[in-house]
Order: sequence, then C-alpha cells, then structure tokens
Amino acid sequence: MKIAIGSDHAAYELKEIIIQHLKDRGIEVLDLGTHSPERTHYPVYGQRVGKAVANGDADLGITICGTGIGIGISAGKVKGIRAAIVSDTYSARMARQHNNANVLSFGARVVGPGLAEDIVDSFLDHEFEGGRHATRVDLIADIDAGEDITEMS
Ligand code: RB5
Repeated sequence: MKIAIGSDHAAYELKEIIIQHLKDRGIEVLDLGTHSPERTHYPVYGQRVGKAVANGDADLGITICGTGIGIGISAGKVKGIRAAIVSDTYSARMARQHNNANVLSFGARVVGPGLAEDIVDSFLDHEFEGGRHATRVDLIADIDAGEDITEMS
C-alpha cells in the first residue's frame, strides 16, 4: 500500500510523526510537502494529495493542517476524492466502511500525536463494506459528474 501525505506549516511536525508511523508499519509513503515549518498555503497540499490519489500514484491520502478542515476541503475538490475530516477513531473507521473515503484529514491543533496515529490506523485497517453503502457512494460520484440527484429519495 502506498499513502500520499501532505500538510501545511501548522501540521508539519505532526506530518513527520505520521510518516514515521506509516514507515514503522511497512507502508510506502509519498511525501508531497510541506517540507518545513515555514508559513505556506494548505490548498496547495490538499490538491497535491487529492491528485496523487485520483491519478493512482497512491492508494489513499492523508492531509493535515491546523484543523484538518481547509486542507480536507481542498483535497475533496479534486474529482473522485472523498475526503473525511475527522477527530476520532470511530469516524475514521466509518469513513472507510461506509463512505469509502480515500483521503483522511485531521488537525494538528485538534488531536495529539497519539490519537492521530490511532486515527490513521483505524482508517487504514478497515475496508469499504459495499452493499447499500455502494449505492450512496455511487450517488456522490453522480454529483461529482454534475448530475442532479435531488429528485431521488
Ligand atoms: C493556518 O493558520 C490554518 O488556518 C490552517 O492550518 C488550517 O487550520 C485551515 O483550515
């Protein structure tokens, strides 16, 4: 498995911790920056991670900024990306099992490194359940494709 990861300056230190955690688990990492604590702009890294996952350079992505919100929103703007912004292990698991999220996002100013590692493990150690959830994820893809699904129930 290969994971693309990106952060802004607010989450640079946590990104390095998560990279080490992934490597300790034997997971290949594609580090898309930022590469220092110097002030930068989170949309750049959100789009980089989103594109890496969408074009198949990575299986899944992880985005981290101060809250996880801005970089997660940015990653989710890339076509085909389902980014889940979470701060707990339950949501991280459900993001995979029910939503087939392909990018995990969290905040370095929200969760500490221990919880962040557990959130990552929860996300990576669970699979999409398919079935009724696939119908809904397919509808998300329809929205992505510009279709109007508002008449469905
Ligand atoms: C940077 O100060 C901060 O706004 C950013 O890391 C993130 O929290 C935005 O959503």
